[in-house]
Amino acid sequence: MNRIITLNRSSVRIAAGLVRWHISRYLLRRDFPLLATFQLTNKCNFDCRMCNIKNNPRQDTLPLEDFKRIIDDLAEMGTVFVSLSGGEPLLIKNILDYVIYAKSKIPFVNLVTNGYLLSEDTAVGIAKSGLDSLSVSIDALGVKHDAIRGAVGAFDRAIGAIKLVKKHSPATGITVNTVISPWNLDDILALAELVASMGVLQKLQPVYVHPEFNGQAANYQAPKAQEIDISKVKAVIAGLLKKKSVSNSAYFLNCIPDFFAGEFKKDIFEQDCIYPSFCAEFTQDGLMYPCIVGKDWTGGYDVREGLKKVFSSRQYRDEVSRLTKCRLCRKNFSVCYVETRLTLPLTNFVRYNFNFWKQGLI
Ligand SMILES: C[S@@+](CC[C@H](N)C(=O)[O-])C[C@H]1O[C@@H](n2cnc3c(N)ncnc32)[C@H](O)[C@@H]1O
Ligand code: SF4
Ligand code: SF4
Repeated sequence: MNRIITLNRSSVRIAAGLVRWHISRYLLRRDFPLLATFQLTNKCNFDCRMCNIKNNPRQDTLPLEDFKRIIDDLAEMGTVFVSLSGGEPLLIKNILDYVIYAKSKIPFVNLVTNGYLLSEDTAVGIAKSGLDSLSVSIDALGVKHDAIRGAVGAFDRAIGAIKLVKKHSPATGITVNTVISPWNLDDILALAELVASMGVLQKLQPVYVHPEFNGQAANYQAPKAQEIDISKVKAVIAGLLKKKSVSNSAYFLNCIPDFFAGEFKKDIFEQDCIYPSFCAEFTQDGLMYPCIVGKDWTGGYDVREGLKKVFSSRQYRDEVSRLTKCRLCRKNFSVCYVETRLTLPLTNFVRYNFNFWKQGLI
């Protein structure tokens, strides 16, 4: 019963936040970050083929006290959703203290992990923390996943992590994050079957190329999207569209073959981008970005003087205004960016989620 009341209270706060953001932007002409993402650390225990984040030479972790200060500011401004990622956030020994603090101020908190370090104690701690949603990354079945992730036992431990959280923290929603690449295309539908049979959700996205950082490890293999068989991608997408456990919008899924083919006919890619008007992204050094990709991973803003002051500053507003002309989602077709842009403002939600005839669904 308590859980239902908590869920309802969070849902009401999220709905109120959504209404407040629309009023603030379209009537009062003032933006605030409705959503925020944290790359808490760049450290990682894996060596995934497609990921270069763990090779970022800036290997520090955002201290809890700095995180709390940012969360206080976000809560004051009206943020309703926070996602904690990395690097691998479970490498941070007191990660649950971050979750507990975020949950004390923000209605919805998500954590993204490769699952390897998620023990029984962590699962019990997750239940106590009130974490709303956990994303566990799984790209393929068994040893194929291990090979992509550069870690023996990665698949078994990710599946084990899901089972532990289901057992000890049933109120935490679980989503399997899957990156579609030339290396796992043949496994995607079987993996989708497995995910559905476990009673959890799945969110997919195509692989894109991370930037090359100074001093990066020589073995980072930038994925060659052109290696992919587009007709196979189309068949996989058709299978995914039938799965209730897949949480992507049909619009997003239907864009994936175009992305791999290098064709961008779809209209979200031509629309002015307002992502930085409803989101703030934080890196492990405490810097804030209106969009890390749009800013080419450089030039974050120091927010120690107060987030609100920076967010409403002339310099930041000019930056946000410049980014309306950014079209980098075509290259970095990220589920976090594109799906949120398909949802906000709510006119986009209606336009892109109910246009079934345009999406080729009827
Ligand atoms: C960078 S990881 C950080 C969290 C955690 N270490 C994990 O792997 O889940 C966040 C998400 O980005 C995905 N990812 C990594 N490299 C990617 C790439 N080149 N293209 C698309 N997604 C990628 C991961 O699979 C994961 O779901
Ligand atoms: S995708 Fe996640 S687990 Fe893999 S190297 Fe990147 S940060 Fe680490
Ligand atoms: S177009 Fe995409 S990459 Fe560019 S600012 Fe918008 S969300 Fe970021």
